Amino acid sequence: METWDAIRSRRNVRAYQDSPIRAEDLDRILEAGRLSPSSINWQPWDFVVVTGRERLQELAKVWQGAGHVASSAATIVLVGPVLGDEDIRKDWVQYDLGQATMSMMLAAADLGIGSCHGAVHDQELARELLGLPADRFAVYMLGLGFPADRAIAPLAKHNRRPFDEVVHRDRW
Ligand SMILES: Cc1cc2nc3c(=O)[nH]c(=O)nc-3n(C[C@H](O)[C@H](O)[C@H](O)COP(=O)(O)O)c2cc1C
Repeated sequence: METWDAIRSRRNVRAYQDSPIRAEDLDRILEAGRLSPSSINWQPWDFVVVTGRERLQELAKVWQGAGHVASSAATIVLVGPVLGDEDIRKDWVQYDLGQATMSMMLAAADLGIGSCHGAVHDQELARELLGLPADRFAVYMLGLGFPADRAIAPLAKHNRRPFDEVVHRDRW
């Protein structure tokens, strides 16, 4: 798929077909995350890939808006470092892992695979399920799977604020 088509095709997909993702496709999505840019190239991420149905069902309980994880073909948990409030890098973690998330979503769209963000509210449950070390936390999850409703293709219309309202030229 053309990059521009992938950008226009990506949407949050919360219901999935009961079909697995090929290992090489999953690896490509992970590789897209690994290749993402980060502040001073510190690459603060680790990715935990979960494919076992029982663990996915448990993982879906970390946030009320993460129900889609239970039926995903795979979910990638983006893991970052625990930092003190005074640590300037604390803001960088969110930005950097956000960029990795978007790269992975576009790589997934390119392969016709749907994806959906999932917040992690219950960090203790995530830590227990995934065996995360004390100095790491689950920043976000990315559920993946082939869409149950319709194939990944450029959307005719996007639910977004108008271009001219969003874009400011030269100054606000
Ligand atoms: C930082 C962030 C957190 C999100 N958290 C969740 C979530 O926990 N559960 C969920 O179903 N969707 C989540 N979303 C998806 C958004 O609701 C979605 O991107 C937005 O409604 C636009 O829809 P679209 O991505 O299909 O275009 C999140 C998106 C972002 C960027």
